[in-house]
Amino acid sequence: MSRASAILLSTQPRARWMRLDTAQVLKRFFFCERSLLVSLAAWIPSIAPLEIKIDMARIIWQCAESAHALRNRVFELRFPSRMLEEEGPDRGLIQLFGGIKDSPSASAFLMSVTEVLLPALRDSYREYLAASDSIADGPTHRFLSLALSEKDEQIRALQRWLQFLLSSEPLLREEALGWTQTVARHLSDLGGVGVGPAQLVPAAISMAGSKTYSIPDKPSRDPRFWRCRFYWPDVVDPSFPYGEGMQLQLRSAISHLNEVWAIEAGGVILSAFADILPWEWIHDSARWTYDESRHCRMGYDRLLSWGLEPAEIPLGTYIYESASGQDPIYRLGMLYFFETKNIRHKLTRAQLFHAYGDTLSEHDMDFDWADETIHAGYGKHWLKELLSLRSEDPGAHDRIRERCGQLVSHYVSTATPAEVEDIKKVAAALMAQAAAMS
Ligand SMILES: [Fe+2]
Ligand SMILES: [Fe+2]
Repeated sequence: MSRASAILLSTQPRARWMRLDTAQVLKRFFFCERSLLVSLAAWIPSIAPLEIKIDMARIIWQCAESAHALRNRVFELRFPSRMLEEEGPDRGLIQLFGGIKDSPSASAFLMSVTEVLLPALRDSYREYLAASDSIADGPTHRFLSLALSEKDEQIRALQRWLQFLLSSEPLLREEALGWTQTVARHLSDLGGVGVGPAQLVPAAISMAGSKTYSIPDKPSRDPRFWRCRFYWPDVVDPSFPYGEGMQLQLRSAISHLNEVWAIEAGGVILSAFADILPWEWIHDSARWTYDESRHCRMGYDRLLSWGLEPAEIPLGTYIYESASGQDPIYRLGMLYFFETKNIRHKLTRAQLFHAYGDTLSEHDMDFDWADETIHAGYGKHWLKELLSLRSEDPGAHDRIRERCGQLVSHYVSTATPAEVEDIKKVAAALMAQAAAMS
């Protein structure tokens, strides 16, 4: 052999995947994260315990951030963008991740996520990080290592919540087990998530035991709280003052806690428009949903830190229910309506809390204000996008907002005298309790 044709060769595991092979696997991970988070978002209203809703919102946001990084990386690898919009050979797998939206119960849903789908992603990320090239594909290694550690933590958190949920729904345990086995079997038939070539599936997957998903008209509420429709007297009695001093501290914490409706609305709209709007919608609304869960947690944390008990604290449903039975665009409109209505009060209230020396309420209100400023932008932008997709005037977003105001007023008008009397008693008892502890 002449010197000119000599070639340096060695078996190099680094070269296992070429650029487009790498992009193909990352595209699969993107679609799995996307489908998983859309299913999680759809289920938020149906799961009662407050902490599970809050954790689900955080997981949705983490999945959306990982999916976003995966998607960007696939673009960087110059994968044909036309193909990025298509599930391609991974269609069966993506269908399975999306199919758990039709789980028969909350326990079944949570069990299939915790015991099958999240572990499958975790193991595939681990496998990918071990087998891929940390030189050529260094940018992926950074965000996928974070995604892997988040998957570990998500599984641990959900395992705990699953046991908690099963203990409150013991009769549904068998069904949940059966459903989880079905999901696991389908996943194994598809060859798992993995890092190898996709297995082609001839027909659409039909999941035994599934129940077609529909947006719940009533949200599930944590039974530890004082459950009601209208969570403070001023909602149903305009003459009842928002208050100052301790009453304002309480009212503001109750408002934050009751932003549980906004977590649910965020989840429902994320899922309802996931296949209509572009990826950026899912990315924005995942962040939106997560932010609302932090606002809810702020109120919950303040109330508990003052020594109040959940059983004394009203947790309502009226804003969620005002939009029930309507086109989901009105749930997006509700977020926009309340955010644009309330944002102007937030900085004034933060200043009042500062004057009281209540640094925690001030701190929470100040961060909340910054989040809400982002959200007002989301609301306007995505309402316009939805309207133009429907060939309607994008400028009509304010009409959606006004209609939301009417829907809420109409719903509030259904408050019964007994409900008004009850919430006044509960609020008075809470204020008395807080006064006794101050
Ligand atoms: Fe909020
Ligand atoms: Fe918000």
